[in-house]
Amino acid sequence: MPAPFTCIAVLPPGLEQLGAAELAELGAEAVQPLRRAVAFRCDLACFYRLHLRALLPFRILRQLGRFPCDSPQDLYAGVQAAADWNHWLPPQRSFRVEVSGTAPGLTHSHFTALQVKNALVDLQRQHWGERSSIDLEAPDLCLHLHLGRASGGARGQRAGNEAVLSLDGSSGSLHRRGWRAAMGLAPLKENLAAGLIRATGWDGHVPLADPLCGSGTLLIEAACAALGRTPARTLALQRWADFNAELWERESAAAAGLARQELADGSPVAPIVGMERDPGVLEQARANAEAAGVAPWLELQGGDCRDFVPPETPGVIVCNPPYGERLGAGEDLEPLYADLGAMVKQRCSGWTLWLLSGNPELTGALRMKASRRLPVSNGGIDCRWLKYEIH
Ligand SMILES: C[S@@+](CC[C@H](N)C(=O)[O-])C[C@H]1O[C@@H](n2cnc3c(N)ncnc32)[C@H](O)[C@@H]1O
Repeated sequence: MPAPFTCIAVLPPGLEQLGAAELAELGAEAVQPLRRAVAFRCDLACFYRLHLRALLPFRILRQLGRFPCDSPQDLYAGVQAAADWNHWLPPQRSFRVEVSGTAPGLTHSHFTALQVKNALVDLQRQHWGERSSIDLEAPDLCLHLHLGRASGGARGQRAGNEAVLSLDGSSGSLHRRGWRAAMGLAPLKENLAAGLIRATGWDGHVPLADPLCGSGTLLIEAACAALGRTPARTLALQRWADFNAELWERESAAAAGLARQELADGSPVAPIVGMERDPGVLEQARANAEAAGVAPWLELQGGDCRDFVPPETPGVIVCNPPYGERLGAGEDLEPLYADLGAMVKQRCSGWTLWLLSGNPELTGALRMKASRRLPVSNGGIDCRWLKYEIH
């Protein structure tokens, strides 16, 4: 029997394949990468597990209903018929509506959200004589409506527009882990960093180094993954009408039980080292590592990346140098890239370098040839996660 829920995980652009692999490892079925998303099926236990343990998604949506939608009237009627609202939304429960996409007559997300809200509160008034309040911050139910072209095209299927109404399991974005006390200069989002680390294949058995570590996002996400540390998240799904406390406790206990002091096979974690030249930002990295519970495994030092001395055994270097968009604007960054290239060639023979580039001219100054290029988006900036073998 197929798993009961149809779901969508929303992912950072470029991480769809890696995200699909992570979801499948955690038990998702019929996993299908889409643009900025992954479609899959799962049961309630797996839905909880993904919210407790998945590191790459921004959010995970559980589909309540799907219906043709070519006008505001279609939307109003379709929303009312999409689910058993007496079960999901009695008037004591608050809600919020988020919208993505468009359909004819539904091109402004605020207007579309109002249409969904009106459909629901009108239904509530008819049935209960009262209505839910709207709570934008911490609602009981976070509804997500996606409008777009119907996926049909096959014989017998219509080619118009359709609406997908879903429940969002978290009220805030899942990239927040609960450890970021301090923000460096232009930090990476935690889920993007986790995906970049996953792309390197680093598993804790060889050293990991970030010579421009900023507030430590790459190293902290890597250490958390290697040591089975799962994010601290408060989730909307705990307030849903079908919340199963026993199942939740079981999945929570299993997630907490993954935390360990060494790698899953019992071997020690190889050195994880970082360098940062700004003392204030280095302090932030230390505070973040402490909050994430991985400080004992990280060796963070102040200094210039040109003076970086790697651990003896070759491993993986990751880095996200300034590229002038948000950080280092107006600064001549070419010498930094040229010196970084020279440093790794001189001292890191046998290592693999992965560098997040937002500017191809600067990466040219490394004078190295990339063996892999993964296009990703970092806060809306088109970037490449570039792999270099250092000989
Ligand atoms: C884009 S930020 C890295 C952000 C980091 N990935 C994070 O999530 O916090 C680049 C960092 O490189 C540091 N930096 C710039 N030039 C450096 C140098 N020559 N040596 C060491 N660190 C440097 C900056 O202070 C900044 O914190």
